[in-house]
Amino acid sequence: MIAFPPQIGHRGAAGLAPENTLAALRAAARAGAAMVEIDVRLSADGRPVLFHDDDLDRTSNGTGPVAALTRAALSMLDAGSWFAPAFAGEPIPTLEQALSLCLELGLAVNIELKPDEGREAETAQVALTVAAALWPATCPPPLVTSFSTEALQTARAVVPGWSRGLLVGAVPSDWQARTEELDCTVLVADQAELDRLVVGAITAAGMTLLVYTLNDRERMRMLWREGIAAICTDYPSSS
Ligand code: G3P
Ligand code: CA
Repeated sequence: MIAFPPQIGHRGAAGLAPENTLAALRAAARAGAAMVEIDVRLSADGRPVLFHDDDLDRTSNGTGPVAALTRAALSMLDAGSWFAPAFAGEPIPTLEQALSLCLELGLAVNIELKPDEGREAETAQVALTVAAALWPATCPPPLVTSFSTEALQTARAVVPGWSRGLLVGAVPSDWQARTEELDCTVLVADQAELDRLVVGAITAAGMTLLVYTLNDRERMRMLWREGIAAICTDYPSSS
């Protein structure tokens, strides 16, 4: 069972630095975050890297699918200039680089598996094998989340002792059956689609409920009062 801090830095700290980069992890730590969320997908040669979108265009100087380039080719791209000139040359990190830095900075981690279609099991298998090999047994293990049922099923097989969270948009009426089937102890829902009664039902059932992505401090305080364990935010802080 993970002891969640109230805030989780979304894609590192997407409001403070280019998302899913080492700079974003450093920015989250500097801002006082205790935990960060990162998006993980596979390169063409099957290596796990941090990147949110299927395509490179929005957050790097590359074009086309991330999955079309090898890890070596991805590492040559600039994933920082689009955010601000001060981040020019910031690379797309590998999962190994990101987790090593999180350990160095003392950040807890939420690994979101973002598989390309058809690579759900492979993404979970590869990413979590890499993560398990470098994550010390003495540190609380990362939370593994995904919208993909298949990725979560594979996660259960690869790192059975690590907590898993099912990602959803609006909370589906069958949330309990779906989380039970996957042995997920955490449900992660879109805060914009939340219904107060549903929040009560979920927390009353003993399920840990996290939400994404919220930057409004007043609404954050309201959701914590209602029993949300942690909120994914682009502007994480210590309080
Ligand atoms: O983990 C919550 C959140 O990161 C899911 O949405 O699109 O930002 O990956 P997205
Ligand atoms: Ca994410």
